[in-house]
Amino acid sequence: MKSQGVLWVLLGLLLWLEPRTASLPLVMDFIIQALTELEQKILVTQVNGTASAWILSAQDSSLHNPLHRHLLLKTENHKATELGPHPLSPEIQDLISEVAQHDVRDGQEYGVVLAPDGSTVAVQPLLVGLEAGLQGHRVVDLPLNCLATPCDAGDDLPDVGAIWPGLRNASPDASIPDVGATLPNGKTKASTIVERLLAITLAGDLSLPFFHSPQTRSPPGLGTEGCWDQLSAPRVFTLLNPKASRLTMAFLNGALDGALLADHLNQIHKPHPPLSHLLRQYYGAGVAGDPEFRSNFRRRNGASVTSALTLAQQVWGALVLLQKLELGHPQLKNMSQEQLAQVATYASKEFTEAFLGCPPIHPRCRWGAAPYRGRPTPLRLPLGFLYVHHTYVPSLPCTTFALCEADMRSMQRFHQDTRGWNDIGYSFVVGSDGYVYEGRGWHWVGAHTLRHNSRGFGVAFVGNYTGTLPSEAALLTVRDLLPSCGIRAGLLRPDYKLLGHRQLVHSDCPGNALFSLLSTWPHFTATEN
Ligand SMILES: *[C@@H]1O[C@H](CO)[C@@H](O)[C@H](O)[C@H]1NC(C)=O
Ligand SMILES: *[C@@H]1O[C@H](CO)[C@@H](O)[C@H](O)[C@H]1NC(C)=O
Ligand SMILES: *[C@@H]1O[C@H](CO)[C@@H](O)[C@H](O)[C@H]1NC(C)=O
Repeated sequence: MKSQGVLWVLLGLLLWLEPRTASLPLVMDFIIQALTELEQKILVTQVNGTASAWILSAQDSSLHNPLHRHLLLKTENHKATELGPHPLSPEIQDLISEVAQHDVRDGQEYGVVLAPDGSTVAVQPLLVGLEAGLQGHRVVDLPLNCLATPCDAGDDLPDVGAIWPGLRNASPDASIPDVGATLPNGKTKASTIVERLLAITLAGDLSLPFFHSPQTRSPPGLGTEGCWDQLSAPRVFTLLNPKASRLTMAFLNGALDGALLADHLNQIHKPHPPLSHLLRQYYGAGVAGDPEFRSNFRRRNGASVTSALTLAQQVWGALVLLQKLELGHPQLKNMSQEQLAQVATYASKEFTEAFLGCPPIHPRCRWGAAPYRGRPTPLRLPLGFLYVHHTYVPSLPCTTFALCEADMRSMQRFHQDTRGWNDIGYSFVVGSDGYVYEGRGWHWVGAHTLRHNSRGFGVAFVGNYTGTLPSEAALLTVRDLLPSCGIRAGLLRPDYKLLGHRQLVHSDCPGNALFSLLSTWPHFTATEN
């Protein structure tokens, strides 16, 4: 209850504060500090869940999303303001009021912070996820016979069990179902259920932008990245695609973090740990000492607990519920169940393949790249080759964002100043921190494999792999994720060939240990052509 109260305060602060220009950098550490301050205050004053009143007493206008109102606020009915209107130190308060609403406007994104792993995270879906996790599972049954008219969506139903954690046991099913066969069409099922944790964190928001460009391709900028004005004290986040929908990379990160942490909170025994503690671990070394359970590996963790099929059902359910809750919804009002199911399936497939199924790639601006010197040459895509390198120097794998970004800059300096190249040579560089770092990227000719630079992408592992191997996560990225993502996007040929640098140029690269492993990979080819 105490942790829950903290969140309500955070979400509710918006209503009490005139947004002012905050001066603190927009970084996750200050969100964690805000939680710490609130948790101390709640501990000292011994109030119980009173912070929820902050939101409720303000005519629930703080959460514009009807799904949030329906699934999150309904149970809370306290009336108290015992913490006073200003429980936070003023500068933290300003920061919170600035970031608590997520928005995309005029090519800029608001309500996002820079996390220690270098990812950008939307705060609101993260907090909403935490709140849902503290409240626990609740499923809303949607009997199909009530779909035609407004009807109460099953508030009194018993909790029929855990849907989202239950997926851990389900076999991962990446294949995309035929809508009619798996989503309710009157033949297969008489009802469907909406699970609160997923509906609130992901499912409710995921599909709406797809109504603008249904069935043809992703809405503009699904997973759009952006650049901070400065990395040391970030304040302004400008999107790389000015036409991006709300489903930006930061939003997807925040929603997925919210969903994963909700799932975690829901599973552990009470009392819940302080949220500040949980977030510090999740955006640090890992929750409860588990280095796999942290923001660096959010996609892999997300992919292991859900599938496109399950997600499609939840998205569909959330759309149906939203249609009930908001009768005049501009995008949903005249939609049939089948149309909603189609959009839900498509959105879930896009999310699963283009987000969960791709490695996270830090754009150039994130590691502080110097500009390209001169004019880059475009590649003629798709390419048919992937050339694997190790960096040799730096010889140690980089295991944190701070180390990897510094390595990227030092390699770029070496390539530009000492070698006299236009830019860092590699197309992509793979750290041992769970991230890929964009070098020349998918579209521009690199300088990695002499005489072959226009034919293939050059991908380098940071480190010296003469005697040892890169981390499992890094290997998986180069063996599976990066190529399948490139193939899906039409940048790499499905029958691409993978070679080690040494097969084309007189060199030991990518190291004996790594090369002998490469030679067992499916796309490895022993000959040059
Ligand atoms: C606060 O919560 C505790 C335990 O959850 C309960 O025993 C106590 O009565 C509550 N106090 C108030 C004022 O509601
Ligand atoms: C949409 O629904 C409204 C009533 O809800 C109806 O008047 C209108 O004709 C419908 N439009 C279409 C294109 O079906
Ligand atoms: C790379 O590793 C090999 C084998 O472990 C070692 O002999 C060599 O000195 C290392 N090179 C650098 C630059 O660290």
